[in-house]
Amino acid sequence: MDTPKDCRSLMIGATGMLTPALHHAAAQATHMLNLARHATQFTPPPGVPKETYEAHDVDYENVKAVEQLLNAHGPFTTALTWIQPKALPLRDLIANHMRPQGHLIEVMGSAASRPGALADQRRATMAAFPNITYSQLILGFMPKDETSPTSRWLTHDEIATAACAILDTPAPRTIVGHVEPWEARPQ
Ligand SMILES: NC(=O)c1ccc[n+]([C@@H]2O[C@H](COP(=O)([O-])OP(=O)(O)OC[C@H]3O[C@@H](n4cnc5c(N)ncnc54)[C@H](OP(=O)(O)O)[C@@H]3O)[C@@H](O)[C@H]2O)c1
Repeated sequence: MDTPKDCRSLMIGATGMLTPALHHAAAQATHMLNLARHATQFTPPPGVPKETYEAHDVDYENVKAVEQLLNAHGPFTTALTWIQPKALPLRDLIANHMRPQGHLIEVMGSAASRPGALADQRRATMAAFPNITYSQLILGFMPKDETSPTSRWLTHDEIATAACAILDTPAPRTIVGHVEPWEARPQ
């Protein structure tokens, strides 16, 4: 079991809608690495000692630059990533910087849920990392109801609440809202 000394946390793309989840993770972390293109402009999580938090401006398409940072700050006990391109080499790189028994959460858009698409591909790849607890958080949509004549995308609050729940309780695949019927997604 990790001692508090070992709780290194990695956040990639978590300075937007995932900010409440970053704050939630920071409360458990002894060291947090926060990566985004403008990470240094992001207000550090409240109440977190300065020495436990580090932000670096990096474009995640620059895999070499991300690798240098992961080498310097890992291995990680927790990682929360919201990476929009498929970026398979980057995703593998992150998995390789997880500590045994660490928890990696990948947040994905709705299209990742299609059969054989990113979520299935990543699940198959992560089978080669049995020592890592791997969670997928797929962002779906909210169907029509009495109050709304059309479906809608999720709110930031719905997304962040789901991410906080997965940080506390890992789950192989969580769909926030719905992804079926696919034709009913917002147009
Ligand atoms: N199914 C759904 O309901 C669904 C799915 C997806 C998105 N959305 C909606 O779409 C809207 C926009 O989403 P968004 O992606 O802009 O989310 P966001 O969480 O607001 O911002 C994207 C995050 O990724 C970082 N980022 C983006 N490109 C990067 C790069 N090349 N390298 C490093 N970091 C990078 C951003 O920081 P920097 O800008 O500093 O790099 C930020 O931390 C949101 O309002 C959300 O509600 C809805």
